[in-house]
Amino acid sequence: MPTLTVPDARFHQSWLEAALEFEGAHRDGAGGEDWTLKGLRDPAHFARFVDELVADTLPESPRKDGYVPCTFRWIVDGDTVLGSLAVRHELNDFLFNEGGHIGYSVRPTARRRGHAAQALKDSLIVAAELGINRALLTCDEDNAGSRSTIEHNGGIYEDSRAGKRRYWIATEADY
Ligand SMILES: CC(C)(COP(=O)(O)OP(=O)(O)OC[C@H]1O[C@@H](n2cnc3c(N)ncnc32)[C@H](O)[C@@H]1OP(=O)(O)O)[C@@H](O)C(=O)NCCC(=O)NCCS
Repeated sequence: MPTLTVPDARFHQSWLEAALEFEGAHRDGAGGEDWTLKGLRDPAHFARFVDELVADTLPESPRKDGYVPCTFRWIVDGDTVLGSLAVRHELNDFLFNEGGHIGYSVRPTARRRGHAAQALKDSLIVAAELGINRALLTCDEDNAGSRSTIEHNGGIYEDSRAGKRRYWIATEADY
């Protein structure tokens, strides 16, 4: 059964295979925008990338302007990486209006099997542990898969802004 797993360099090969499946499309919740896939083939670069992802959960870690601390998790089944998820610790203006607390993506070959819905459910525990009582989730108006993922987890629609549907989920409702 897939679990939300702390990023680890031992998943290098599977992570690369998963990333290649996206064919350059944005991998929501994956982080590492400054790293190239080519560079990440190198195990030493990959190890640094993983260290950076893990460290981003610490408020004192260096990060780009406009970015907030973030806890990254990989959706993993055994040794296979199925997707990525990020829990942003706080909402700046952009995240409040458009980005939300939690972002995720599932590799194309693993979609339509309930992984995103389960990962979002599991991530609400991570969010609760970070002190987030109500998580903001957003998706593009035309992103039927993400919309269902959010609604499947009890997301309450508030409004749409800049083409994004905004939902709230009470993280501690079930725990
Ligand atoms: C959106 C995404 C994460 C869904 O992942 P997934 O693992 O296939 O989703 P699940 O199998 O858990 O499905 C969850 C729900 O969405 C529905 N769904 C998934 N993909 C769908 C699609 N393409 N069209 C319509 N419904 C879809 C499922 O039927 C299910 O609905 P249900 O709860 O009513 O049964 C995945 O398509 C993806 O990574 N897309 C690109 C990145 C992205 O859009 N991330 C979200 C940013 S807000």
